[in-house]
Amino acid sequence: CGIVGYVGEQQAQSVVIEGLRRLEYRGYDSAGIALVDGDALAVDKRAGKLANLEKAIVDAPLPPSTTGIGHTRWATHGAPNDANAHPHLGHAGRVGLVHNGIIENFADLRARLEADGHDLLSETDTEVAAHLLELQVATGVDLTTAMQRVCQQLEGAFTLVAVDALDPSRVVAARRNSPLVVGLGEGENFLGSDVAAFIEHTREALELGQDQVVTITRSGVSVTGFDGTPAEGKRYHVDWDLSAAEKDGHDWFMRKEIFEQPRAVADSLLGRHTRGGQLQLDEMRLSDQELRDIDKIIIIAAGTSFYAGMVAKYAIEHWCRVPVEVELSSEFRYRDPILDYSTLVVAISQSGETADTLQAIRHARLQRSKVLAICNTNGSTIPRESDAVIYTHAGPEIGVASTKGFLTQLVACYLLALYLAQVKGTRYGDEIALVMEQLEAMPAHISSVLDAAPEIYDLAREHVGTRSVLYLGRHAGYPVALEGALKLKELAYLHAEGFAAGELKHGPIALVEEGLPVLCVVPPRGRDQLHDKMISGIQEVRARGAYTICLAEEGDEAITPYADHVIRLPRVPVLLQPLVAVVPLQLFACELATAMGHDVDQPRNLAKSVTVE
Ligand code: G6P
Repeated sequence: CGIVGYVGEQQAQSVVIEGLRRLEYRGYDSAGIALVDGDALAVDKRAGKLANLEKAIVDAPLPPSTTGIGHTRWATHGAPNDANAHPHLGHAGRVGLVHNGIIENFADLRARLEADGHDLLSETDTEVAAHLLELQVATGVDLTTAMQRVCQQLEGAFTLVAVDALDPSRVVAARRNSPLVVGLGEGENFLGSDVAAFIEHTREALELGQDQVVTITRSGVSVTGFDGTPAEGKRYHVDWDLSAAEKDGHDWFMRKEIFEQPRAVADSLLGRHTRGGQLQLDEMRLSDQELRDIDKIIIIAAGTSFYAGMVAKYAIEHWCRVPVEVELSSEFRYRDPILDYSTLVVAISQSGETADTLQAIRHARLQRSKVLAICNTNGSTIPRESDAVIYTHAGPEIGVASTKGFLTQLVACYLLALYLAQVKGTRYGDEIALVMEQLEAMPAHISSVLDAAPEIYDLAREHVGTRSVLYLGRHAGYPVALEGALKLKELAYLHAEGFAAGELKHGPIALVEEGLPVLCVVPPRGRDQLHDKMISGIQEVRARGAYTICLAEEGDEAITPYADHVIRLPRVPVLLQPLVAVVPLQLFACELATAMGHDVDQPRNLAKSVTVE
């Protein structure tokens, strides 16, 4: 979501709307604004793009005001409609609040508020926080103190920005694990999800730390911890232009999205287990009994999502002992697949709108199969037409070639596999808890891979001029090889192919010639022979002149004699390795395409969401 706050001398309405326009790439399910007008709040909010809100306030202008907040939404809790749009108000309409993130304990808080007679008008987690803030200001404390107190009750990740109708002098915000920056002006100050929100007005900014509350007034900015102890933000000068600012300083949205992956993975894992350690998937509308009756799973998807499905097959079969087929959406219904009520069809789609996938789930439901969607777009068609949904929390993906969409789909697939294992009793609780712990460590591992980006960029630039690249993998590394090759095709328009390393000798090895770059995803060393078999495959191509680039875990020295270049990966279990192994391949393709002068965000002939069959 995109968030803006303003207090100063200008008309807040135009500053806030302009800021939202700059942030619209962060989400465009709905938009809203709240202005402090004397002793009341003037609020308007509309489902759909910002243009709907802009039109509404032209038709019915809001009163003049110099203090306001605004929001453009990427729906997480609750469908993208007017009621769920932000700002949300407290019970008497005194506090207005916008929010980005997920308040994990909102169900408990909501139950408590309802028991005390509060009437909540939306399905959002945000409205709960608005009510809590209003309860605090009603005791006579200022909005800053109220925010500090409320934040201490909240769990999860959030940016909150609030105004109090009775105090036009300030806008108060808080952040935990979710973005928020302060723009420092003369006689005015700003808040934004990123600097794009206010870059037209000031390039002086203040970076906030974790768990901090910030209060802006016309003349100043003050920062505290959630417990009220004074704190200081870090001042910096923004030297990006407007278009770079929207991309957070990166040249492409895609590169920005690659670097957002640790956050996207962490967000997609948020709120998935109860205090008792049981996994919970809140959008899971299939009963445990229905899930226990499932005796076959068919995963359908297109493009990158299909490769996430291939990884899911390894995880689900291993953990749940249920047979899994993975099928391209466009092929599925034409082969007259065998389906019935005990088949679970899992449709993976970042956009939720891909026509091939949509038609496939319609076909499956006609055959009485249950359909579960894994999707990044709340309220889109595929989840609407499914029996259950696991939403990924990647945030909007703008680059046409999917990156953070893919990683978060993998997370959702692992969650689904573990959930099925829990329900079906195919794994003990402590085994499931161990994998959850390993998953929760992945954002840090992904960050460590990203730290090596400069080295991968050098490697990519050395390969400008190459006409063909091969990718090899085994086991869960096989879909990674396919996805790596797809990225290079999409972005650099090069011949790129992924192979199962063991299949190489049965034909594709004929392609190998002197100097051909071959990227090899090496499985972690383990008790099985996967790792050693992979090394044999690498030896075979190297012996025929290939230039071997090996992605191998820290400490794996066995590959050194056969690798022309080694990219190190953190040590993680084989089933989770795709989450780290695909990242260097994304960086490689992005940089190679950039060096070739291609438009990485909008590659030729492609579309982000293909709504024709
Ligand atoms: C298009 C995009 C791909 C994407 C595929 C599936 O072809 O260009 O990047 O992987 O659709 O999209 P979905 O939204 O269903 O995951």
